[in-house]
Amino acid sequence: MPKLTVDDRTADVPDGQRLVLAIEAQGVNIGHRCGGFARCTTCRVEFLDGEPDTMTDAEYAVLKTRDLLSQYRLSCQIVCDHDMSVRPGMTRESAGWDDTGPTPEPTVTPEAAWYPKEELERRGSA
Ligand code: FES
Repeated sequence: MPKLTVDDRTADVPDGQRLVLAIEAQGVNIGHRCGGFARCTTCRVEFLDGEPDTMTDAEYAVLKTRDLLSQYRLSCQIVCDHDMSVRPGMTRESAGWDDTGPTPEPTVTPEAAWYPKEELERRGSA
């Protein structure tokens, strides 16, 4: 089982669990205002350790558009398949929301395939 550390709290998480849901399961009110569809970026996290070297098309596109590439990753577009340590970028408390957003589905949406970041950059500039 992979270990997930969120703000210095570490727990075992089910292999393959969507990162945004694993963070929430640790009692952190991370944002997911678009319901986990790579549109809002409120599920953003800063990686302290274990950043995946692949990303979905959808994650790459929205991070690039908002000029957030290399700063944040989207926890709705990542699954826990190895140990990770993250710091959530936006929570209900920090953003002052009434709620964190619609519950994301258990699997990554939109339907996902992961690519090396370099490949996405090459395609983006082609
Ligand atoms: S981008 Fe909206 S929940 Fe991830």
